[in-house]
Amino acid sequence: MRAVDIIMNKRAGKELTRQELEFLIGGYAAGNIPDYQVSAWAMAVFFMGMTPIETAALTRVMLESGSKIDLSGIQGPFVDKHSTGGVGDKTSLILAPIAASLGIRVPMMSGRALGHTGGTLDKLESIPGYRTSLPADEFKNIIAADGFAMTGQTKDIVPADRLLYALRDVSATVESIPLITASILSKKAAEGTKGLVLDVKFGSGAFMKESAEGKKLARSLVDTGAALGLSVIALLTDMNEPLGNMVGNFLEVEESLDCLEGKGPADLMEVTLELAGRMAFLGGKAKDSAEGRRVCEKTLAGGQPRELFLRNIKSQGGNPDEVLRIRGNYRSPVSAEVRAGSNGYTSGIDAWKIGHACVQLGVGRNRTEDKVSPVAGVQFFAKSGAKVTAGDLLMKVWAADREGLQAALPQLNDAVAYSQTMPAKRNLILEEIS
Ligand code: URA
Repeated sequence: MRAVDIIMNKRAGKELTRQELEFLIGGYAAGNIPDYQVSAWAMAVFFMGMTPIETAALTRVMLESGSKIDLSGIQGPFVDKHSTGGVGDKTSLILAPIAASLGIRVPMMSGRALGHTGGTLDKLESIPGYRTSLPADEFKNIIAADGFAMTGQTKDIVPADRLLYALRDVSATVESIPLITASILSKKAAEGTKGLVLDVKFGSGAFMKESAEGKKLARSLVDTGAALGLSVIALLTDMNEPLGNMVGNFLEVEESLDCLEGKGPADLMEVTLELAGRMAFLGGKAKDSAEGRRVCEKTLAGGQPRELFLRNIKSQGGNPDEVLRIRGNYRSPVSAEVRAGSNGYTSGIDAWKIGHACVQLGVGRNRTEDKVSPVAGVQFFAKSGAKVTAGDLLMKVWAADREGLQAALPQLNDAVAYSQTMPAKRNLILEEIS
């Protein structure tokens, strides 16, 4: 078998066999196939797509590129959540301790910033000392002790996704339904979860721009997940505007803490609680997701999720007291403000433009080897529907360096749309696919 023939077959729109995928992707993970051939293949997949059988085969090949985490010995239920990627989307950080406080075990294997979207691992690593590359035994021990643990793909666990994820990020091959499906589900099957709640985003800040495309992705995830023996519920949610009031690595850790203290912004809380309710349902803690949401609201008000969040920081190498101490001040000295250019209402804050500007600020990466900044990002003071007068503060901005700030500022200004009338309220949750 030759990699070039497999690339040509995909380029011609043929369905690849499990053996071909094993040769190419298994070989890539083993270091036998070079990046340039896999990126050519990924581009062929981007244009030609994959059948459901092929997508499931790719997911299995990626899963089998490493070992699986064996959670036997820990009392379940095991339920995780994953998002297809958005801007300001920090719900995983809030949901994991909420679910854990109900007695659900959350083995969370996440990713880094991808394209213009943020990554849970980068956010967590903005906490000084926090480790996201946990050996399997430590991952299990922390789940047993705290109810949840957060880790990334390693050279032992889904190494194929670790490599492919980074390669897609810099080869314009992120927005592909089969590649997203295999990436997410190989991680989820490897971490050992049984139940999975997916936040499938659509809109300018998502990889799927239209809700119909988002729905296709949700269907692919739910069906492929079922083929792997997972119980999956997907929510199709709106990502036309950043979620919450903060975009940035440590900024989002801070906002997650705000949510756990009952001070979270309404849009972020709405999406978080809808997802949390479904985790409670899949974990057998509620008869349906509506009751699940009520159960989650109650546990949140009791304060235990906040305690678990802080405990997890300690378990994974950070210092919770230090996080509380630097909260509100851990910002880059390179900063600026964005002020309203018109009178009226802000009618939209374009998540795609904000996401791209944040990459310039240092929140995400332009090249695989780029380091992200913990202290860069944007804080919003007016989201859509706010009444503004020209000159009002709309955003505070922090950048890793002055060059990035200068590149981002025009994009940030351009992301804001104005209207003379109050814009209609967005419906954040479009539908459930299960
Ligand atoms: N999240 C992932 O883990 N992989 C993707 O491809 C997109 C979002």
